[in-house]
Amino acid sequence: MSYAVQIGDLRVTPGIRGAVGRVLESGRFTEGRETAAFERERAAQVGTRYAVAMNSGTSALIAALTALKYVDGRTPRRKVITTPLTYAADANAISLCGLDPVFVDVDPITFGIRTDLIGRYIERNGGEDVLAILPVHLMGYPIDMKRIQVIADGYGIDVVEDTAQADGADVYGRTAGAWGNLSISSFFVAHVVQAGEMGVVNTDDDELLGLLRQIKANGRACKCAVCTRASGACPGRGDVDPRFRHEVVGYNFKTDEWTSAIAREQLAQIDDIVARRRRTFDAYSKRLEAHEGWLQLPPVVKGAVPFAYPIVVRPDSLLSRRSVCDALESAGVETRPMYPCIPTMTKSFARFRSAYEGKLPAAEVVSAHGFLVGCHQFVTDADVDLVGDTLDRFAERMIP
Ligand SMILES: Cc1ncc(COP(=O)(O)O)c(C=O)c1O
Repeated sequence: MSYAVQIGDLRVTPGIRGAVGRVLESGRFTEGRETAAFERERAAQVGTRYAVAMNSGTSALIAALTALKYVDGRTPRRKVITTPLTYAADANAISLCGLDPVFVDVDPITFGIRTDLIGRYIERNGGEDVLAILPVHLMGYPIDMKRIQVIADGYGIDVVEDTAQADGADVYGRTAGAWGNLSISSFFVAHVVQAGEMGVVNTDDDELLGLLRQIKANGRACKCAVCTRASGACPGRGDVDPRFRHEVVGYNFKTDEWTSAIAREQLAQIDDIVARRRRTFDAYSKRLEAHEGWLQLPPVVKGAVPFAYPIVVRPDSLLSRRSVCDALESAGVETRPMYPCIPTMTKSFARFRSAYEGKLPAAEVVSAHGFLVGCHQFVTDADVDLVGDTLDRFAERMIP
């Protein structure tokens, strides 16, 4: 089914055609010039010294956590404190790295992990076995990274900032991705920077940079930017090609030139994309304000970048999310339920259910009653009206 208003949309602009054409002309499809240029441009956009391209945001998470595990002295630490309300990639990456996720509840209005609860967990349990805090700027709402950094610094804990839903956001005076030892992002098509399937890790740390370059390329010996591009010009080349000597256990998380070229094209437009998303967000809020009695609309928060337009059907309205979403879908508006609360509502994490039941009330309410509609740069005023008109009709029919 095709929708009039999609959750995410990518238009093939002349710029994207040009970017792909450039790669075709070059004849080089695996990581090369475009990827190197992307890494420089991404580092500059975020304001970190380095960026390392990956083939997805999930790979970026796994590479970031694996790099932390490989840093000397961190190994005995096994816990990663994160949010229960996010896409599964965060908890999956933690588990796949052999680490133990610790979930603390979220703010019911802005959906982000509560920093006071992170502090409370660490005060109660001690921070000695905590490797990292992994906050997610869910729906583009900035998490209080200053507070997280203070907590982390007090206990020698690393911070991995997930900006997959918040690229271009201003997070307490810095660009999203500039906090923490490492940050990750995803350039999946529905995100702010859209490249298809691609991710990135940003860092200022030389040791982590070297590890990330190794981990993404099966642990190859050389950590230089050139070597992972197989250009044959590696400065560390000795008797045996360093691409075939391995120092750490790694993955193949390399990306390709097409996606890097498309990501560059999008990154160059990020200010415009963010401005257009914010305009659409304001238009929705104005058009839907009459429904605030039964719908919790998302607040305006300084620095936020709309990932989508998240709406929570107020539980006391007794209206089901399904019925609202069915009405919108029938009118051609794509909807998506909010993520299920990972430890209590996800089969793949059922092993945590009994430990967390009743302990994550805000995440569970948002999970059960929240949904998203698209708020990207291609949503028009007519699309906003379509959503508004459909909800007007639904309310007339359903609310006495
Ligand atoms: C918050 C968050 N982190 C990580 C990811 C994983 O990114 P990818 O789909 O590129 O693997 C996503 C994907 O939607 C996400 O929303």
